[in-house]
Amino acid sequence: MNDTIRPNTPGELNRRSFLKTTSTVVGGTLLGSLPIERGAHAAADDTVKVALIGCGGRGSGAADQALSTKGSVRLVAMADAFKDRLQGSLRNLQKQHKERVDVVDDRQFVGLDAYKQAIALADVVILATPPGFRPIHFEEAIRQGKHVFMEKPVAVDGPGVRRVLAAAEEAKKKNLKVGVGLQRHHQAGYIETVKRLHDGAIGDITSMRVYWNGDGVWVRPRKAGQTEMEYQVDNWYYFTWLSGDHICEQHIHNLDVANWVKNGYPVRCHGMGGRQVRTGKEYGEIYDHHAVEYEYADGSRVFSQCRHIRGCWSSVSEYAVGTKGTCDVGAYTIRGQNPWRFGSGGKNPYQQEHDDFFDAIRNNKPFNEAENGAKSSLTAIIGRMATYSGKVIEWDKALNSQVDLMPKIFAWDAPAPVQPNADGYYPVPVPGSPDWVKKII
Ligand SMILES: NC(=O)c1ccc[n+]([C@@H]2O[C@H](COP(=O)([O-])OP(=O)(O)OC[C@H]3O[C@@H](n4cnc5c(N)ncnc54)[C@H](O)[C@@H]3O)[C@@H](O)[C@H]2O)c1
Repeated sequence: MNDTIRPNTPGELNRRSFLKTTSTVVGGTLLGSLPIERGAHAAADDTVKVALIGCGGRGSGAADQALSTKGSVRLVAMADAFKDRLQGSLRNLQKQHKERVDVVDDRQFVGLDAYKQAIALADVVILATPPGFRPIHFEEAIRQGKHVFMEKPVAVDGPGVRRVLAAAEEAKKKNLKVGVGLQRHHQAGYIETVKRLHDGAIGDITSMRVYWNGDGVWVRPRKAGQTEMEYQVDNWYYFTWLSGDHICEQHIHNLDVANWVKNGYPVRCHGMGGRQVRTGKEYGEIYDHHAVEYEYADGSRVFSQCRHIRGCWSSVSEYAVGTKGTCDVGAYTIRGQNPWRFGSGGKNPYQQEHDDFFDAIRNNKPFNEAENGAKSSLTAIIGRMATYSGKVIEWDKALNSQVDLMPKIFAWDAPAPVQPNADGYYPVPVPGSPDWVKKII
């Protein structure tokens, strides 16, 4: 489809030519009609209008980075489940980017449905809510013909991954650009190191080790008057339907590097895990450690660990072992027959990924990270399925799984998908239990 579109050089692009490049007739159907025209401030310039959905820590950071890209860009709409989060984020962004933040009261949307209205006002949408919502929000943004930057992971279950893959195909047809917050792909040292591995610097890669072992993250205490749904969406990290467990939420970065180095995705995995220390009711239902062995199509293995337990060995890293040497991927260091170390250089990858994404939008370059984002998310999901169930998990079976973790109704007074017992504790997956296996795979 890109063949039908003449790329712009940076100097050429204006709002009118952007209209032409994003409204392409394919097979007689008008695809990707101009997002800019639907925005709050249609104007004869090349201003890119941004909406932020999910105004927490990362969403606010991503908005800052989007507003720090070259060219005219405005934040025009914001949406969050909770008003105080939106307003806190807005205040900070106004301080950072006085001239580039234009989110008046009637473009601030609050609640579980708020995303739809904010998406409608923008050319580019940043999706940074808890990941359980991502497939729904991504599907809607692509349906509305918007470019999307979405944070990882992009789904927490098989049905969610399938929705993202389908919407990614739609995005390609509509010539919409999609970035995914796996920022190592935009980090100069990683890019150069992985290129050398692909060029054979350590020979055939026979195994990898990947880790996200650390202390863990925040807990948001239950507040008076909250419904169960409000509490879970607020304290989202500890509910699998919202975060996917920490193997999805954080360790995805290292698993994604393994996939990148291996140039493929695992075919199956098995593993073990549990919750040894983080057992209080405030920690919901997720585990505090997982260890997974992934098998790739060439028979090689990736050994993965992630742990959220204070006072233990910490490491966020990736290592590759090959027939001619070894590589500490995150330290950009190769040892063996072809020793090498990356010097220095490169921008903050969080900024670089937005620079690259906006450059692709403005200059109509190919940019679609959704498929890899979905498949790296599935890599983490199959790991969680393996540790929760104690079974071998096949990639294809997980991809086609009918286990849908999301609620049937999205409303504050609707039932949350998991419920606490009378003492406030949530059910925790028990490996090997036939009842649990049915709920997991
Ligand atoms: N790429 C990275 O290095 C990186 C770093 C941190 C976080 N993240 C990712 O960013 C995402 C957000 O993480 P965070 O740390 O900013 O969390 P956060 O809790 O600070 O922010 C999430 C925000 O989403 C809002 N929200 C929840 N449900 C919503 C809904 N249905 N509609 C609209 N808003 C909703 C919350 O109220 C909150 O303000 C996660 O997917 C996380 O994995 C990525």
